[in-house]
Amino acid sequence: MTEAVRTPFDPADETAVAPSHGRDLFSKFDALIAEREALLETGVRDPFGLVMEEVLSPTRAIVKGKETILLGTYNYMGMTFDPDVIEAGKRALDAFGSGTTGSRVLNGTYQGHKECEEALKEFYGTAHAMVFSTGYQANLGLMSTIAGKEDYIVLDADSHASIYDGCALGSAQIVRFRHNSVEDLEKRLRRLPPEGGRLVVLEGVYSMLGDIAPLREMVQVSKAAGAMVVVDEAHGMGFFGQHGRGVFEEAGVEDQIDFVVGTFSKSVGTVGGFVVSNHPKFEVLRLVCRPYVFTASLPPSVVATAATSIRKLMYAGNKRAHLWENSRRLHKGLRDLGFDLATPEAQSAIIAVLLPDQDTTVRMWQALLEAGVYVNMARPPATPAGMYLLRCSLCADHSSEQVGEILGMFESAGKAIGYLA
Ligand SMILES: Cc1ncc(COP(=O)(O)O)c(C=O)c1O
Repeated sequence: MTEAVRTPFDPADETAVAPSHGRDLFSKFDALIAEREALLETGVRDPFGLVMEEVLSPTRAIVKGKETILLGTYNYMGMTFDPDVIEAGKRALDAFGSGTTGSRVLNGTYQGHKECEEALKEFYGTAHAMVFSTGYQANLGLMSTIAGKEDYIVLDADSHASIYDGCALGSAQIVRFRHNSVEDLEKRLRRLPPEGGRLVVLEGVYSMLGDIAPLREMVQVSKAAGAMVVVDEAHGMGFFGQHGRGVFEEAGVEDQIDFVVGTFSKSVGTVGGFVVSNHPKFEVLRLVCRPYVFTASLPPSVVATAATSIRKLMYAGNKRAHLWENSRRLHKGLRDLGFDLATPEAQSAIIAVLLPDQDTTVRMWQALLEAGVYVNMARPPATPAGMYLLRCSLCADHSSEQVGEILGMFESAGKAIGYLA
């Protein structure tokens, strides 16, 4: 009989000795665990543990047995239940199976991945498109691969975690500029030594506050300083610009952007990420970009739904118009009720309601859920400047009646917790 393999510390093994030297690596989370337990002991629901028991449509779900309006998804264009998208996914599942079990550079590129890249090239009017398994990986890959240790990445201080993580994975020097400040961007670029490449990283829409970047001015100063420019359009794709390409299209700077990063997890309504570009050497990234090479590719059903959705988004002018109508109406309605909002007007489909502290924010979040609407709660460190906020994100499929209902729920919840008079 062979002896069972002993793990270094098996709690079921009475002869095993718990490590007595070195501290428990989890002790660094003690303060967070205590804060979370204290919050839950007050009787509120866990804002980060919600379960959708059933999803009825892009705007309605069953949560704790109750029908709830969804106002905290990134399903901006309501594509998740589009019949053509669903049909494409089912057909691909039947024809190609449930997964590729391989990397894009080995056995993981199917016809569907190429078709999805063709749809992206058409959507963006670019020569190249590369599909990643998530938007997170697209940023991770681009930042860490194209900027080396002689180069500089200049990024907005409020950049998404995937941009920061991409910088951390690579070896470029990182320079941050004040959120959305053209003046600070210009100053930081001016101070860079002349040698070394420069990459300026911008986002069309900043997702915490729903504000948009002054891309025209930022691109102008970046190009004047000889930098390449990448814009992440995760929250702008689908409804900014005539073709829905993003804020950079609306700003009229398409011909000056070197790379657009995006995701399928928002307006496209599935999962995945991409980079598009006209750079003549772009395709070499398929060989050298670790977050592209060393991970499995998206399942065939996912790329089929993404390609179908992207092609439909090209012609979604009416949906775009209705989404903007919803955003403007919710912004005005919340302001008229007396809520403090992060932007002076609706700049995107995200309307962020600012609240003074964690306690008020959690109570308001719960009161809204009990009234029948789900919003995202966000708190530091995910938010800029230590803000507490409730983030509402609208969908082109929200009806005018639903927006009216949502406003009614904000009013009653605000009064119930004593925040509104
Ligand atoms: C600005 C931005 N970039 C990238 C991502 C990553 O997208 P994905 O969900 O596809 O990983 C997100 C997602 O929240 C985002 O907000």
